[in-house]
Amino acid sequence: MYDYDLLVVGSANADLVIGVERRPAAGETVLGSDLAVHPGGKGANQAAAAARLGARSALLARIGDDAHGRLLLDAQRAAGADTVGMLVGDAPTGVALITVDPSGDNSIVVSPGANSRLTPADVRAAGSLLAASRVVSAQLEIPLETVVEVVRTRPPGTRFVLNPSPPVPLPTELLAACDPLVVNEHEARVLLGPSAGPGPEDWAAALLGLGPRSVVITLGADGALVAASGPGTVSRVPSPRVDAVDTTGAGDAFTAALAWRLGQGDELVEAAAFAARVGATAVTAAGAQESYPTAGEVVAG
Ligand code: RIB
Repeated sequence: MYDYDLLVVGSANADLVIGVERRPAAGETVLGSDLAVHPGGKGANQAAAAARLGARSALLARIGDDAHGRLLLDAQRAAGADTVGMLVGDAPTGVALITVDPSGDNSIVVSPGANSRLTPADVRAAGSLLAASRVVSAQLEIPLETVVEVVRTRPPGTRFVLNPSPPVPLPTELLAACDPLVVNEHEARVLLGPSAGPGPEDWAAALLGLGPRSVVITLGADGALVAASGPGTVSRVPSPRVDAVDTTGAGDAFTAALAWRLGQGDELVEAAAFAARVGATAVTAAGAQESYPTAGEVVAG
């Protein structure tokens, strides 16, 4: 009945990546590796990750009419994602400046470019794409009002998954649509402010109090915590132990895998356990999309 398992509405960036011994502090200059240019962006990463796993995925995004835009289109096609929703023009393709240290941790600055021109009108014009999708996911490298339009435009039965990254205060209407809201520790702390309690269980309870139907908190090498309304519905999910090379885009792979499996009927804990294995696999290779596994390559739990 649905043409797509997952429609991702979000950003597409060219990732300009430099390996460094130590990420620079304020006012500091450090020397790094040769520059590598990878396809990235939280939206494009999710659509590519889902497609690599075998999902029928599509991306609604805006890129520039330039070499970076063509890199991103080619990468979506190579992953097996549908590019019918990739709009071209209005501004240069988004760029992310990324430094990666030997532990695999990164720092990222994004110039949104064309991502900031993805408008609510673009979402309304893509109504047939939303109607053809079992699950829709979004992030916040595109305008917030565009993401709000997604939850207004999607048909009632379409599940909505949000990773609010980078985090900003969210309107009640958007929070209420999330099933789940997917955050890391940093995002949880920003959404909750000074009232955030000491640990993930506290954050999950407080986040649920903001209105989403369910919450997933990613905890890096410690896996994830999932929570839904009702007693006894908070669970920890472990992550397989792996040697991290580059964590860039691992959270996007996690969210894509989670959203896809939820649409296939998995319970939240089951979907998060699979997503943790996909995220762990993604940190074992450099780059975002180039590190994403096929279903057969996902590390064992
Ligand atoms: O989540 C990782 C992504 O964040 C990178 O690919 C970069 O483009 C930024 O959007």
